[in-house]
Amino acid sequence: MPNLDDTKALLELDTDGMFDAAWSLAEQCTEAWGLSQQVALPEQSRPVSQIVVTGLGGSAIGGDLLRVFGGPLLPVPVLVNRDYTLPRYVGEDTLVFVVSYSGNTEETLSAYDEAKSKGATIVAITTGGKLGARAAADGFPVVQVPGGIAPRSATGYLFIPTLGVLERMGFLRGMQAEVEGLVAYLQELREKYGPANPTGANPAKDLAGKLYGRLPVIWGASGTTEVVAMRWKGQVNENAKTPAYWNVFPELNHNEVVGLEKAENILASTWFVFLHDPDDHPRVKMRMDITKRMMAKAAGCTDVEASGPNRLARLYSLIYLGDYTSLYLAALYGINPGPVKVIDFLKAELAKRP
Ligand code: F6R
Repeated sequence: MPNLDDTKALLELDTDGMFDAAWSLAEQCTEAWGLSQQVALPEQSRPVSQIVVTGLGGSAIGGDLLRVFGGPLLPVPVLVNRDYTLPRYVGEDTLVFVVSYSGNTEETLSAYDEAKSKGATIVAITTGGKLGARAAADGFPVVQVPGGIAPRSATGYLFIPTLGVLERMGFLRGMQAEVEGLVAYLQELREKYGPANPTGANPAKDLAGKLYGRLPVIWGASGTTEVVAMRWKGQVNENAKTPAYWNVFPELNHNEVVGLEKAENILASTWFVFLHDPDDHPRVKMRMDITKRMMAKAAGCTDVEASGPNRLARLYSLIYLGDYTSLYLAALYGINPGPVKVIDFLKAELAKRP
């Protein structure tokens, strides 16, 4: 098994600079906040009664972060749309964040065209590409974020601007302090999760060691850590090129656990990660505890607690641990975490079929 404390070998394998991008997340969030303060606000023809974030993969996860983080704060609902089309109710009273890091994802471009034709209020977040060009030509505000990293490494660039824009539009308050708290905490956490901190003292390296050779199953809770569970799964898939699954309490107590009742062989090579946040419903906390006792009879289990000075930092504390863990897991498998050849292949094949 490769040695995760051999920092030189770790970084040599990582030709796309995924570790560097993870390390710079704090600075990325600060920069993203600044961009959100500079962009022109969209002109609204009608008051906004719902927010839609449309995008795919690494560009969509920020929508879920907004949905979960904004849930208790926003006076209007947030829908995350990962599709070519938009729901019928999208119209002049809808604010649509169209998010694509490359600006060239065909589903997102199609959703953009539909949002425009429905008269929605649009803000684009992108490095450029066709989305940047189209939105600028159509007179919609474009938060133009720096390129050069993988979309999934750019959650700061793709998510933080939604907070800044929504605050300036009067939907949120106190976001600058929230982002500053997050940034300071990320700077602290990277010392703990970063490559220089050795195995045994580094929770991300230690957890990667447990997930190695096993099927990671990430369980979070509705309304708090659900987005984190989804993110961990995606990061394990894209960085370590390994299967992973996620689900949420309390729902999984009503189906998934039954499916595991007789699955001893699968459980023997599964590792469960239970994600916890202080805001989890008290009954959900009990459910997690009981379920963990059941699973621990046949599978490995790790509890991970959110930490940090505010809700945003707590959410990101878990995301950040998952990001680093997936990078170390890639290293354990001897895999370069950056390239996602399968996604590139699919995009290229689809591009040949206009
Ligand atoms: C790659 C990644 C993918 C992309 C997705 C959409 O790092 O995370 O999930 O985010 O293929 O592409 P963009 O983000 O360019 O719209």
